[in-house]
Amino acid sequence: MAERLLHIKASPRGSLSRSAMVASRLLARLQETDVEPLDLFDADLPPFGGAVIEGRYALLSGQPVAEDAAADWQRIEGMVAHFLSFDTWLFSTPMWNFGIPYRLKHYIDLLTQPGLAFSADAGGNVIGHAVGRTAIIIAAGALDTRPESALGSLDHQAAYLEAWLSFLGATNIHVIRVMPTFGEAAVVDRAMETAYAEADALARRLSRPSRV
Ligand SMILES: Cc1cc2nc3c(=O)[nH]c(=O)nc-3n(C[C@H](O)[C@H](O)[C@H](O)COP(=O)(O)O)c2cc1C
Repeated sequence: MAERLLHIKASPRGSLSRSAMVASRLLARLQETDVEPLDLFDADLPPFGGAVIEGRYALLSGQPVAEDAAADWQRIEGMVAHFLSFDTWLFSTPMWNFGIPYRLKHYIDLLTQPGLAFSADAGGNVIGHAVGRTAIIIAAGALDTRPESALGSLDHQAAYLEAWLSFLGATNIHVIRVMPTFGEAAVVDRAMETAYAEADALARRLSRPSRV
């Protein structure tokens, strides 16, 4: 059976997006994968505040969500179920002000709900509901914020996404950085070529048939 992959696009730049260009390259080379795109700048994300937030506190204390937030919570439940129904998530995202674009943070805030995306055992340990999933992060940035670089401490983009996915229980997480995307043409071209090569290598690894 084909794997199902959700491509979560966090750049509003359409075909100009460098993170999306590298994602397209990876997807073109992945075998036996059904891809569903989710463009977060076009998506209808419900507001997450007021009574809806109180619903979250109710759930955390083991209470039902209040009547006035029930319809919103039903929608959130549907979003989490949709997200968790995929084998693989591909995030293509720019760095914005050292972190992720607000639409991606909004999506993450909607998804990360107690009892839906994670729960706690009797000892209070968090159990994420994403165990067994594969996550791929394609992270573009004007600056080179790879962990080993001089600016590595400014990375609240890929590092944040990795931390969040780990919280949800995912252990199979791959990161491709597309950076620096600002500077001399030759430097930017090299960054793109490196990212494309990493995408090709990852597609080969993920397309390899598993042993039976
Ligand atoms: C609002 C905004 C904030 C940005 N902040 C950063 C930043 O903090 N660090 C950085 O390296 N690049 C930053 N950039 C540059 C983008 O990360 C960079 O152009 C990236 O290649 C864009 O990826 P995309 O083409 O996939 O959208 C910012 C760009 C925008 C539009």
